[in-house]
Amino acid sequence: SQLLRGTVLTFDADPGEAPTPDADSLRYWEDGAVWVEGGRIRAVDDFSALTPHVPEEVEIVDYRGKLIMPGFIDSHVHYSQLDIIASFGRELLDWLNDYTFPAECRFAERAHAEEVAERFLDELLRGGTTTAQVFCTSHPGSVDSIFSAAQQRRLRLLAGKVLMDRHAPETLTDTATGGIRDSERLIADWHGKDRLAYSLTPRFAPTSSREQLDAVGGVLRNDASLYLQSHLSEHRGELAWVAELFPECRDYLAVYERYGLVGPRSTYAHGIHLSEDERARLADAGANIAFSPTSNLFLGSGLFDRLATRDAGVVTSLASDVGAGTGLCGLTTLQGAYQVGALLGQPLTAWQGFYRLTLGNAKALHLDHRIGRIQAGYEADMVVLDLAATPLLARRTQVAETFGECLFAMMILGDDRCVYATWADGRLVHQRDAHDHHEAPQ
Ligand code: GUN
Ligand code: FE
Repeated sequence: SQLLRGTVLTFDADPGEAPTPDADSLRYWEDGAVWVEGGRIRAVDDFSALTPHVPEEVEIVDYRGKLIMPGFIDSHVHYSQLDIIASFGRELLDWLNDYTFPAECRFAERAHAEEVAERFLDELLRGGTTTAQVFCTSHPGSVDSIFSAAQQRRLRLLAGKVLMDRHAPETLTDTATGGIRDSERLIADWHGKDRLAYSLTPRFAPTSSREQLDAVGGVLRNDASLYLQSHLSEHRGELAWVAELFPECRDYLAVYERYGLVGPRSTYAHGIHLSEDERARLADAGANIAFSPTSNLFLGSGLFDRLATRDAGVVTSLASDVGAGTGLCGLTTLQGAYQVGALLGQPLTAWQGFYRLTLGNAKALHLDHRIGRIQAGYEADMVVLDLAATPLLARRTQVAETFGECLFAMMILGDDRCVYATWADGRLVHQRDAHDHHEAPQ
């Protein structure tokens, strides 16, 4: 049992898009304290109000001057693409063929998958992210590797085996029946165990046959607790290819609808080039679109219209989409989101940004009864942010007139250097080392 002392910020509701957050959308304790016990948050309050109720033997962890928030959530990321982050000069379809598929082939080897899984989780925690929805590869062992690593660290994680039975190298393709058989084995082994959940993972329409998509729909219909993750309407060339492959469908979303793959537990990455009609159907279905700003900017895929998506009533989550995305840290994702918004005349406030990274993403993944808030009874997943992590940021926050200005400065100038500590399941799982040193290549 520990008492974390610092400034505490947590959201209760969507703060809205205005520069001033909606009343009652957030809670803030300047000199706050979070009492952690048995992996859960037991209480949160002003330090002076809470301490009289806390037994003397409870350890006080002093984070004064730092900001304690719920752990960040990443709604869409590929752990198998960690090593091809920052690969030069391609748009989506060529990027997949030239960089992604060769990298994913290596996951046929279990030892490689295990090594990358550990490194990926280290990196997530270093960036303050405590829960992610993860694409593995088509190899079942890649899923066992990440679930097993997350289970040992007691992390909350969603993941699934990529289903892909065409238009990819032979070592990466499964079959309609084999892919489902493997997925069902993985569901039986992992779904609902500890803090783990299974997400069925058809890569995207072009790499699945009609038979495969139909079989995925069959599995989903049998178990309403399963998730689904895929890609939708990311790149113009991809849209043309989908239209060619599925001439019977009136638009891209209709392919997934036809096979029963669009529901409240579905996450579709990107959704950049959607029609108003597609947006309306996504809203009706309750599916969420994972806005992946650094990926969209890096691949040159296009600018996600956040406000049109919001106005249509579509749930939007926020994601890194590494390896097309350029960083696992939520702060890096927020910078990208701000830049995309700026290009569309839709500046993203820090309130909206941090809400999306925490409670917003928890809601999109139907996990907001467990994570995404610092509140009694919630799982103790938290990030401790350092507003003075760099000289520039320290100065900018020092001259800031409001707390909102400080938060915005961190969103624009921050990265994993700002992540002072990360807690998951009530335990310290990352502590920034002032002398952090990385070996340069020989
Ligand atoms: N579309 C299909 N597969 C992928 C992928 O791995 N990354 C991205 N960004 N888009 C995709
Ligand atoms: Fe992706």
